Amino acid sequence: MRTPDGTPDNPAAASPLQSDAHFRLLVESVEDYAIFLLDAEGRVATWNNGAKRIKGYDAQDIVGRHFSVFYPPEDIAAGKPQKELAAAAHTGRVEDEGWRVRRDSTRFWANVVITALRDAQGALIGFAKVTRDMTDRLRLAELQHARALSAHVQTALENERASIARELHDDLGQQLAALKMQLATLDANAGADGFARHALTQTRAMETQIDTVIASVRRIAAGLRPPVLDDLGLFAAIDWLVNDFRRRYGIRIDLDIGGEEAEFDAAASTSIFRLVQEALTNVVRHAQASEVRIVMTCATDRCTLSVEDDGRGAALDQPRAASAFGLLGMGERVRQLGGVIAFRSAPGEGFRIDVDIPLDGLAPRASG
Ligand SMILES: Nc1ncnc2c1ncn2[C@@H]1O[C@H](COP(=O)(O)OP(=O)(O)O)[C@@H](O)[C@H]1O
Ligand SMILES: [Mg+2]
Repeated sequence: MRTPDGTPDNPAAASPLQSDAHFRLLVESVEDYAIFLLDAEGRVATWNNGAKRIKGYDAQDIVGRHFSVFYPPEDIAAGKPQKELAAAAHTGRVEDEGWRVRRDSTRFWANVVITALRDAQGALIGFAKVTRDMTDRLRLAELQHARALSAHVQTALENERASIARELHDDLGQQLAALKMQLATLDANAGADGFARHALTQTRAMETQIDTVIASVRRIAAGLRPPVLDDLGLFAAIDWLVNDFRRRYGIRIDLDIGGEEAEFDAAASTSIFRLVQEALTNVVRHAQASEVRIVMTCATDRCTLSVEDDGRGAALDQPRAASAFGLLGMGERVRQLGGVIAFRSAPGEGFRIDVDIPLDGLAPRASG
């Protein structure tokens, strides 16, 4: 038999666990949630372990104080604590996510549920408040967002570079070539049409100058995006890049590319190319190395790449400059391809980068 409110009518039959004391013990021992009661005015009436852990107050320091101390000053100024209590009293329950303040004034991102408690006659006797620290989740969401944004920015940057390179090569390059042809026609007509002999030396000089400009435009366009990357693929592009660095900076680079060049996704090829480019740029900027060794091997199911120099190295456990995005960007690119990257270095002991990417991270994305 049960009474109309559902409790067993024979108290002796109740489980020994169904006592207030046991229930209080349960609530007190919860660590991941701050669970506590407020009186009808909003003063803290009980406190549990989770509340102590999340908010930093011991029970004796907080019981009796108004719960608005948990809110940031701007929320207090806007009357948010009172509004939440009023809403809970009105609707029975409110849920909110927002910044809350710990005892040491640091903030945490909280999920808060406030439930109104009423006696048998329906009079408000207080509120139950459950607070969860969601800061880690918020940070994770922010990190995921930042990563998506960085991937997006990288793609946009590559597209922009490719289109500027195309414009430089196709448009400017063509116009310069046309200009050169016009000068050559002038040359051919020298002597006729009263074309002065002395003008001939000038047109010749101009032709030479235009050749230099054409070479510059090609070099700038190739720097933005080397055509070999699109025309001949990743291995040839790395070869070109290495030669470019040898020629421009006079550094010794030992390049060893092995294995089959698979059908790489264009974006993946670009990423690996940029990685090697950044690594070599770092060698030039920071290493003072006498030699660099690059080994790239693509076999069966993965590609590995290492770039190692014998330069002055760096202390990797030191915080990096806020403006240093090179190593960070490499890590992002590799992560996007599903691979792993490791940096190894110590002062005076050179710098080594190891990359390992599964081939399916490099394969063309199925479209649609
Ligand atoms: N090959 C290298 N040899 C020595 N130090 C390096 C090398 N590559 C990177 N570093 C160190 O790591 C730091 C971070 O590199 P990076 O993220 O590319 O930023 P940046 O090149 O803009 O300084 C550099 O400032 C440098 O101190
Ligand atoms: Mg760099």
